[in-house]
Amino acid sequence: MKTYLVTGGAGFIGSNFILYMLKKYQEEIKIINVDCLTYAGNLENLKEVENQKNYKFLKVDVCDKEAILKIFQTYEIDRVIHFAAESHVDRSIRNPEVFVNTNVLGTLNLLNAAKLAWETEDGFKPGKKYLQVSTDEVYGALEGEEGYFYETTPLDPHSPYSASKTSADLMVKSYVDTFHFPANITRCSNNYGPYQFPEKLIPLMIHNALNGKKLPVYGSGKNVRDWLYVEDHCRAIELVAENGKAGEVYNVGGHNEKKNIEIVTTIIDTLLEMLPTDDPRRKLISHDLITYVEDRKGHDFRYAIAPDKIKAELGWEPETPFSEGIKLTIAWYLEHMEWMERITKGEYQKYYETMYRM
Ligand code: NAD
Ligand code: DAU
Repeated sequence: MKTYLVTGGAGFIGSNFILYMLKKYQEEIKIINVDCLTYAGNLENLKEVENQKNYKFLKVDVCDKEAILKIFQTYEIDRVIHFAAESHVDRSIRNPEVFVNTNVLGTLNLLNAAKLAWETEDGFKPGKKYLQVSTDEVYGALEGEEGYFYETTPLDPHSPYSASKTSADLMVKSYVDTFHFPANITRCSNNYGPYQFPEKLIPLMIHNALNGKKLPVYGSGKNVRDWLYVEDHCRAIELVAENGKAGEVYNVGGHNEKKNIEIVTTIIDTLLEMLPTDDPRRKLISHDLITYVEDRKGHDFRYAIAPDKIKAELGWEPETPFSEGIKLTIAWYLEHMEWMERITKGEYQKYYETMYRM
């Protein structure tokens, strides 16, 4: 039975990954979820698996050296899937320090603990893999409508968030180059889907629209992001962790570029299409809610991933077209209004205290 150490498993992509893996492999794998539950971590996401014997939650900060070492001493970890991070660009512009601590030093701490646990006299125990979940933002920005990010594109991050993710990637690369440490890096484009924290574009717009609140579009609304349904990302991570060539970087993307304003208008139109005709919230939702606001500082213009390598080497392709994924996402939020209300009221930390009493 393989044991996965998943960090940041109470966040958006991490919780989707744990649910996806436990659904697919049932009792054939064990998952240890290490998360310190920042504002973005929510154990409610994992309620359906919390009592499974092969799932364990540990409230641990990835920067805590002793606690991380102890986990590797207690369990025979086969896979590390490192999601834990401060993930929001806007927050990094206001408060970069925590991004360096968690994203860079947390990664280094995890690398050291895995290296110590896995190294042998002549290399590393066979079959081990560390996967660094990175981002397309490490490549900087594409200035025009043309071109793509490849794995060979020079690293050129702009925001404190992307600079911290790039630094973490370089630490992983240094362990691969220096020690032949068995690691992969995946660099994915913007994810969307269930359980995304409503500070990010898509859930923020869904929540605001349903409450008749203004929809704040930064700058011209013409900036482009390449959107991927979160389950497609989870599949890519699983594939790279299992079959990716050690030491390699794999780009993951949806070939689904959209201007921000297109996303916002699609959300309005889809909500109006999906809400029943007698739903009172319909009266609150209109294109008049769109409000252009001051641009994000240093706002990257366009991201677009070329996922050619992961397709050629591992056979991965996105499976969820945006037209379907956005409906699945909106339907999920409509069915989980209480989840959203608790999150936006900051009450989800209480869930943890009630549940675990610590
Ligand atoms: P998120 O903000 O939703 O979740 C982050 C999780 O990490 C939370 O549960 C939080 O409690 C936990 N965490 C934060 N600091 C921690 C610490 N010091 N110790 C332990 N746990 C800690 O983030 P997300 O959107 O799910 O992103 C997950 C990863 O994927 C990040 O590394 C991010 O850079 C990367 N990524 C995200 C996207 C995207 O579109 N969201 C795209 C590409 C890559
Ligand atoms: O590209 C991958 C990255 O995608 C991940 O590494 C990050 O963790 C993730 O947060 C995301 O970063 P972005 O900055 O692209 O995502 P965000 O949802 O914050 O913004 C998407 C676009 O929408 C961006 O161009 C800014 C714009 N925006 C965002 C918000 C929150 C608005 O116009 N209005 C808003 O209120």
